[in-house]
Amino acid sequence: MPDAPLDLPETRPAQLDWDAQGQPLSRLFGDVYFSNENGLAETRHVFLVNNDLPARFNALSEGEQLTIGETGFGTGLNFLCAWQLFEQQAPAGARLHFVSVEKYPLDYADLQRALALWPELAPYAHELLGQYVALHPGFQRLNLAGGRVVLTLLIGDALEMLPQLDAHIDAWFLDGFAPAKNPQMWTAELFAELARLSAPGTSIGTFTSTGYVRRRLNDAGFKMKRVPGLGSKWEVLKGQFVGSATGASKPWFARPPQHLCERRALVIGAGMAGCATASSLAARGWQVTLLERHATIAEEASGNPQGVLYLKLSAHGTALSRLIVSGFGHTRRLLERLQKGHDWDNCGVLQLALDDKEVQRQAQLAAAFPSDLLINLDRAAAETKAGIQLPAGGLFYPQAGWVHPPALCRLLAEQPNIRLQLHQEALELRRDGQTWQAWNNTELLASAAVVVLAGAAEIKRFPYSAELPLKRIRGQISRIPATTQSTALRSVVCASGYIAPARLGEHTLGASFDFKSDDLALNSLDNADNLVLLEEISSDLAERLHSAQLDPAKLEGRAAFRCTSPDYLPIVGPLANRSAFVEAYAVLTKDARQVPDIPCPWLEGLYINSGHGSRGLITAPLSGELIAAWLDNEPLPVPRDVAEACHPNRFALRLLIRGQ
Ligand SMILES: Cc1cc2nc3c(=O)[nH]c(=O)nc-3n(C[C@H](O)[C@H](O)[C@H](O)COP(=O)(O)OP(=O)(O)OC[C@H]3O[C@@H](n4cnc5c(N)ncnc54)[C@H](O)[C@@H]3O)c2cc1C
Ligand SMILES: C[S@@+](CC[C@H](N)C(=O)[O-])C[C@H]1O[C@@H](n2cnc3c(N)ncnc32)[C@H](O)[C@@H]1O
Repeated sequence: MPDAPLDLPETRPAQLDWDAQGQPLSRLFGDVYFSNENGLAETRHVFLVNNDLPARFNALSEGEQLTIGETGFGTGLNFLCAWQLFEQQAPAGARLHFVSVEKYPLDYADLQRALALWPELAPYAHELLGQYVALHPGFQRLNLAGGRVVLTLLIGDALEMLPQLDAHIDAWFLDGFAPAKNPQMWTAELFAELARLSAPGTSIGTFTSTGYVRRRLNDAGFKMKRVPGLGSKWEVLKGQFVGSATGASKPWFARPPQHLCERRALVIGAGMAGCATASSLAARGWQVTLLERHATIAEEASGNPQGVLYLKLSAHGTALSRLIVSGFGHTRRLLERLQKGHDWDNCGVLQLALDDKEVQRQAQLAAAFPSDLLINLDRAAAETKAGIQLPAGGLFYPQAGWVHPPALCRLLAEQPNIRLQLHQEALELRRDGQTWQAWNNTELLASAAVVVLAGAAEIKRFPYSAELPLKRIRGQISRIPATTQSTALRSVVCASGYIAPARLGEHTLGASFDFKSDDLALNSLDNADNLVLLEEISSDLAERLHSAQLDPAKLEGRAAFRCTSPDYLPIVGPLANRSAFVEAYAVLTKDARQVPDIPCPWLEGLYINSGHGSRGLITAPLSGELIAAWLDNEPLPVPRDVAEACHPNRFALRLLIRGQ
């Protein structure tokens, strides 16, 4: 993600001034966020009425959705007005997607102050503010109104972010300060992007009537006309897209056609990935059966007492790094619904820089990311944050912390549309007509039109997914009893391992990596290794925990398998028939640039959410949203290339391209 690509200086968050009436102004652009005279009325007229939204919301049927795209989220006034109208007009089972791009997000206090201007929007503003956390650059998803209203904020420049968006927009709110004050945004390139994301019938409204905006939008395929404005604005523009929809993406990453006669899904595996998938589908009105072989949910990798929200980022904007920033934001917002201190804590995470290479890597990261996501601390500052003596300074993630993963799984899985079936192990998956069936020998456990395999590396037992290159890596954490002196630890501290502040009188210390072992029995050697990791983190903390007196053979702990893919990205999305895929795209072995016009041989209704490695707390919940977006033809919650980097077809494609 290159920063500051345009002429404007990078100033995050937005710098505001407040006029005598208490209304916000942008210091950078020298313009108002909304009309000084009648902000609400103008928003409703220009964006809601001119996009015909009262009637369009009203005409939605149960299960239908409407997607609005906006340039310039600003104070969120347009969004809240659209949400309020949606609540008033749309039937209960309809859904609203709002995708808005914002280069300079307001900070929390400014947003709160700006939205306090509109008492009639107070309940919506309150809910938005409750989720207005961890909005770092890139795609950030916020689920509101129990998932009925989904806000996807694209934090960055419109000209950088919109090309990454995979969505079909029904109505555009073309906002973004007056063209004369913000000419960098109002360009033919921007309008071409709006056109790419539109289809015949997509509408557009904007507050400006500037001639060149009208002409350029016409050139891009919108039929624009001037219509009366409100108050001092004589005229504004509204229009319709009359161009043709742009071509499909590569067939192996295209959206599978849906011929589903019912919205019932079967999710196999109730760890973080399965619970998140079930939750995202249930919020969209799917009836979900969640199958788990154990007596409760989250008994395997997702069952540790504390997991860390650890962001292993790259300064080079890799797909994995962008997924992590988006996933972190999404998980962090979910956690706001859990009990702080008991189920999670945003105590911060400190990654120590113990050698020169790490010092350099951290310096690059500090230059690439905003300081509300991560900051470099020298040793003294790091010790103050952590509350203990440390061997070095490092990178501090102030909004991160630890999570009790079973609590997050429960939050996700305990919903009215989810039926949990425990003690049920799917040994076989059969296709029967239009449905998938899960069998345990002669017992039919459940069936549905859609099945999502979320059983970590166990999904390799099914022939359909057997070829996916998933590996198990055994890991063990140790549970270290807190002492009076160890309660001084105030943040998670990581080096090769990690230790968290105590939860219910115990610190989680982890974790070992064993690529060979298949044995989940607790192992004293791993406990001993974890104590070595503790010594590396802080000999002061080791002393406070009396680690020299702890007997590794008697320490409590927990072992489970991580499940990783060779490129460390999770595997999320629809699955194709492997042999038919190889046959259909065989030409790629000779010429990797070919894009044959052959539809992908999808295994209709079969999806995967697995391979979350050592960071499932960050990647699995957002992957649930990604599965739901594939299934319901919604805006993807991550950039298109990130979704492709996580796609199950990537492995078969790579082999073909390598001529294998
Ligand atoms: C020691 C250790 C420490 C970790 N620390 C962290 C950390 O600090 N931060 C972090 O983000 N991540 C951490 N992770 C990784 C994280 O725990 C995983 O990425 C995450 O839990 C994966 O979730 P999952 O749902 O994919 O897998 P799992 O939690 O393993 O869930 C899979 C579920 O599917 C069920 N299942 C499988 N097959 C079937 C079947 N056929 N029928 C019915 N049920 C089935 C299993 O019983 C299981 O409940 C750690 C992992 C380990 C092992
Ligand atoms: C007039 S305000 C939008 C008001 C907003 N829709 C509301 O409801 O409050 C314009 C917004 O566009 C944003 N913006 C300006 N140029 C941008 C660009 N190139 N990319 C993304 N956002 C931009 C500004 O930061 C500002 O928040």
